Amino acid sequence: MHKNFKNILEMKGKEKITVLTGYDSTMVTLCDQVDVILVGDSAGMVMLGYENTSSVTMEDMIRFTTAAKNGRKNSLIVSDLPINSYNTKKDAVENSLKLIEAGADAVKLEGGKEVAEIIKSITEAKIPVMGHLGLLPQTAQKYTVQGKTKDSALELIEDAEIITKSGVFSIVLEMVSSQVAKIITEKISVPTIGIGSGKFCDGQVLVVHDMLGLFEKIKPKFAKRYLSLADEIRNAVKSYTIEVKEQKFPDIENEFQMEESEYNKLRKEIE
Ligand code: KIV
Repeated sequence: MHKNFKNILEMKGKEKITVLTGYDSTMVTLCDQVDVILVGDSAGMVMLGYENTSSVTMEDMIRFTTAAKNGRKNSLIVSDLPINSYNTKKDAVENSLKLIEAGADAVKLEGGKEVAEIIKSITEAKIPVMGHLGLLPQTAQKYTVQGKTKDSALELIEDAEIITKSGVFSIVLEMVSSQVAKIITEKISVPTIGIGSGKFCDGQVLVVHDMLGLFEKIKPKFAKRYLSLADEIRNAVKSYTIEVKEQKFPDIENEFQMEESEYNKLRKEIE
């Protein structure tokens, strides 16, 4: 049985929560030991080659969610509501239901007090919601650290408290100064999941392509690389190319042969 949102909620203060993004069944099968697979709209950049997340559609997210669900056995699946899919309560609930039908266990959306009523309407429809505060990639003009001044920090803390009241079961804190992330983590009853927000959060999330060293276009300071998969792939492709050009691949163990007697009959027939 895979995890549910209550399992994640109950981990606060007991055990750190691990989250990785996942958009396809092969990768999700490999990453399924983490607590949560986030079908993030970062798929727009790492899977679809867009510059940012602003062109990602519901159709995209439904397709990636289905693929993620097909690879998962253990983790909770949370899918991002893409930009403009939750502008009204009606849209938010209808689109959340579509992601749940595609295989998500919960949805995530970006924003603070301005989306509090939207979050409430989704949770009232019995769909668990993960919040997202700090840097909001769907609308951000620049990627800068959030909560660096007293006033911006107070606003973030207030937002976290408001959306907790609206019913989120956890909140992603993206690029929030670590002191503010610590205060929020201590103040609210639901787990905080940090990305570039320091070690005091209740859990951590990374984009799997960053973590594996697959995505080379940008390398944020917080995105620790545990592998250099891009180099490994390039080396493998180079070996393959050389072997095909030099006729070393395929070898005898990679091919299929017909029976000698059948082959002889064939030769006779065509000669
Ligand atoms: O879309 C995404 O991958 C995200 C993470 C960066 C938290 O929202």
